[in-house]
Amino acid sequence: MAEMRAVRQNVLRDEERLPPVPDPGVMVIFGASGDLTARKLVPALYDLAAQRRLPMEFAVVGISRTEMSHEDFRKKLLDTLEEQRADSVSEDVWASFSKGIFYLPGDSKKPETYEELKGFLKKLDAERGTSGNRIFYLSSSPSLFPAIVERLGEAGMNREEDGGYSRLVIEKPFGRNLDSAVDLNGDIRRYFGEKQIYRIDHYLGKETVQNIMALRFSNGIFEPVWNQHYVDHVQITVAEDIGVGTRGAFYEEAGALRDIVQNHLMQVLCLTAMEPPVAFDADSVREEKVKVLKAVRPIPEDDVGEAAVRGQYDGGWVFGEGARGYREEENVAPDSETETYVALKLLVDNWRWAGVPFYVRAGKRMPKKATEISIQFHKTPHTPFSGPDTEGLEPNVLVIRVQPEEGVSLKIGAKVPGSGFEVRSVNMDLLYGSAFLEEAPDAYQRLLLDLMLGDPTLFIRADEAEGAWRILQPVMEGWSKNAHAARYAAGTWGPEEADDLLGRDGRKWRRP
Ligand code: BG6
Repeated sequence: MAEMRAVRQNVLRDEERLPPVPDPGVMVIFGASGDLTARKLVPALYDLAAQRRLPMEFAVVGISRTEMSHEDFRKKLLDTLEEQRADSVSEDVWASFSKGIFYLPGDSKKPETYEELKGFLKKLDAERGTSGNRIFYLSSSPSLFPAIVERLGEAGMNREEDGGYSRLVIEKPFGRNLDSAVDLNGDIRRYFGEKQIYRIDHYLGKETVQNIMALRFSNGIFEPVWNQHYVDHVQITVAEDIGVGTRGAFYEEAGALRDIVQNHLMQVLCLTAMEPPVAFDADSVREEKVKVLKAVRPIPEDDVGEAAVRGQYDGGWVFGEGARGYREEENVAPDSETETYVALKLLVDNWRWAGVPFYVRAGKRMPKKATEISIQFHKTPHTPFSGPDTEGLEPNVLVIRVQPEEGVSLKIGAKVPGSGFEVRSVNMDLLYGSAFLEEAPDAYQRLLLDLMLGDPTLFIRADEAEGAWRILQPVMEGWSKNAHAARYAAGTWGPEEADDLLGRDGRKWRRP
């Protein structure tokens, strides 16, 4: 009897561990001829199909203005997939997955497009069993977001009928500033409830970004020291070696503050600084993140020069190759002052972090790609060893490497082998790649699956998007009065002014 019970319990446990497969449904992608669909969304869906994590009754419908047949669209997607994966695209998986891919040419501003789409989706429900479940993925130009939402609403496609769901996914940038983000939230909420809205930030889909929470909340040893009593300051770096490439026109409008800081960097800051959530569910996690955003002290407009640095890359060398300056990039004005580098000193006004600066920076054309969080602890109050013996000793630093070489390292003091008592800093290193056999899925894979399963935990709530803008608004206003961007050579760690930002506090940027 007891044995049978044990067997039954094991079966139950195995079932709980089986990855869930979403219900049938359709993903409609607006702006489907763009890069994101071919480079990110479809490869992620293909991988899910290869892992049998997509239901058989699943379809993708691409919409954009370009004239294309279903077959042309499939071919374009396959070409990009093959470019990315060389020989590893399975003919069988692609054959069965691509049967569910369709394309409708149409102007997303015109009501006719939505009438046609509605009919097409009904047909798919009947022929492919997609069960009335719809995801509307807005990957078009952000200027079209309000119109698309309104047309969807007017066509009644926002309504969840007969048990089917209707979800709206919005790509970044979410607005251009605080006012436009508030307006956009208002426009969307006229038709979609917050539970139907999924604001996507691909950083939250990264395993190592989620690992910030795993590290903090599944270990007993970090939380007790994760506060102003032990932490001297925190540095968050999102560095890229690439320049703006072919995205000059987009970047001229965005700049690093809107492209990276408002979303990816602020999210990483929230996960690093937040209180432990009571549960790992959408409300609990997002509630704690919003509290961090509320606690970040906006930099007063008059202090922007002191606490915020904007830079732009000139020509230089990256990995031994000549790199042109931002102003020489395609579709960039020759006198552009758009920032390709941002550094900020932020303060989080709460009990945990009072007086602990968070220095954050994001830049293009840095010497390497590196996203990391470093928690720099206070110096020991006293070292019993002689001065010369401790010259190579630095305070403890915990570094969470988000990418590349994903892992965690802790800088600790250790005795140099020998007869004296020389102590030096060394790194204790954990590489996720060698600790686990499983390969980390791409960020979009994780997020698309959560979206289909209806789990918004790793998506951004309206108040988070607005909270991040609230912090950055005075910085943007300060900069609008003095648009000058400090210069840095491509392949360096940003302008001198960024070193001064920490130098004034007697600190230095870490070299990732
Ligand atoms: C995107 C930005 O959101 O993130 C790009 O628009 C940037 O400018 C990219 O290059 C960086 O993402 P990742 O995953 O390569 O760190």
